[in-house]
Amino acid sequence: MSATTPPKTFHVKSFGCQMNVYDGERMAELLAAQGMTAADARDDADLVVLNTCHIREKATEKVYSDIGRLRRDDGSSPLIAVAGCVAQAEGVEIMTRAPSVKVVVGPQSYHRLPEMVADAAAGRRATETDMPAEAKFAALPKRRKSGPSAFLTVQEGCDKFCTYCVVPYTRGAEISRPFTDLVEEAKLLVAGGAREITLLGQNVNAWTGDDDKGRPVGLDGLVRALAADPDLARIRYTTSHPNDMTDGLIAAHGEVEKLMPFLHLPVQSGSDRVLKAMNRSHTAESYLRVLERVRAVRPDIALSGDFIVGFPGETDAEFEDTLRLVDAVGYAQAFSFKYSARPGTPAATMDSHITADVMDDRLRRLQDALNRDQLAFNRASIGQRCTVLVERRGKLPGQWLGKSPWLQSVHFMGEAALGDLVTVDLVDAGPNSIAGVLAEKQAA
Ligand code: 5AD
Ligand code: SF4
Repeated sequence: MSATTPPKTFHVKSFGCQMNVYDGERMAELLAAQGMTAADARDDADLVVLNTCHIREKATEKVYSDIGRLRRDDGSSPLIAVAGCVAQAEGVEIMTRAPSVKVVVGPQSYHRLPEMVADAAAGRRATETDMPAEAKFAALPKRRKSGPSAFLTVQEGCDKFCTYCVVPYTRGAEISRPFTDLVEEAKLLVAGGAREITLLGQNVNAWTGDDDKGRPVGLDGLVRALAADPDLARIRYTTSHPNDMTDGLIAAHGEVEKLMPFLHLPVQSGSDRVLKAMNRSHTAESYLRVLERVRAVRPDIALSGDFIVGFPGETDAEFEDTLRLVDAVGYAQAFSFKYSARPGTPAATMDSHITADVMDDRLRRLQDALNRDQLAFNRASIGQRCTVLVERRGKLPGQWLGKSPWLQSVHFMGEAALGDLVTVDLVDAGPNSIAGVLAEKQAA
């Protein structure tokens, strides 16, 4: 590979989960700190970072087709870096199959991106997929600017080893970032404009640390510490495992006003046999009991979940158990997926894989039920007065978009500014958004 001029402009494209969005932002900050300029369009960038996701099928094919699409009309390509979980899982193969990729960097090593890009510009292709997660955060530049709603990764990796999931292999073992680092990063985000912080982790409620007095605390301790900042209005966290919903965290839902009434708690299936085969180490019943306890302290909590249909061996009756669980919970929103065999995971080699037709049919039936419940939840909000965090301008002149405490998208007309917390009467509801009328501008 021959040397090229070092890139001056960059574009980061993130796929997949919110943690990838957070990582993408941090990579952009890192490159900007080196004096590079962000380009809105990838065609205008000297360096394109594809921050990839490996959770479900076709991820790898998609990366190769994205790489192909980066070739420009004159036959040239930008300097291409592949980051994220596909890089972690398939780094060597990417380097072999795609000569236009000059940098491959895994999710725990992206603090090294600038030096790797410099190496690549000097003619040396670079791969880094080690997993020393702690080094990364310390090496990243301090946060400066933030939108009204910010992400903060507090925990990474997973030790649960659900049999379908690649995360324990691509993101590595669970690690918790230190309490004081997180309090400091949250302060910087708030100083940079954030009014809401969403704490992120593959198993965020498994976060543990020592507080500023050296006492061991769980996620609830971190939430309470962050809530003490008078300029931070809202706290959320995602994504959680049912077995890590501690008494303390459940209690925090009833006691910490800034902790928003929303809980994303994946269950995956309503069948105990399937849950066991998935190695979820909870039952449908124990999951429902957790929800009951959260509802007891926060009756208006909006619930969300993740589901997989067509896990190997799932029978019609077992799928019906999932529909029954959905009926019992009444989710405000949820994500549902067809099972996708991931190479290297135990489920991929299990017997009785489900046919595509059956999967399609189950997914449609599940999504019909979830959509029905989402609309019902939104309709039940009509008539409520609530606070909305203003996050964006709407399509119409004078229109604003924001989020209700229950994470619904709310649109309204009138006087407001980004980052305002405004009081809105919810007057109409669709499946994906709520119409509001500005009641008054709150003294924020
Ligand atoms: N197939 C389908 N869905 C999956 N998920 C994780 N792994 C797979 C897989 N192999 C889903 C789970 C998880 C969400 C992030 O993605 O529902 O909670
Ligand atoms: Fe994957 Fe299970 Fe860990 Fe979630 S808890 S990241 S589904 S292994």
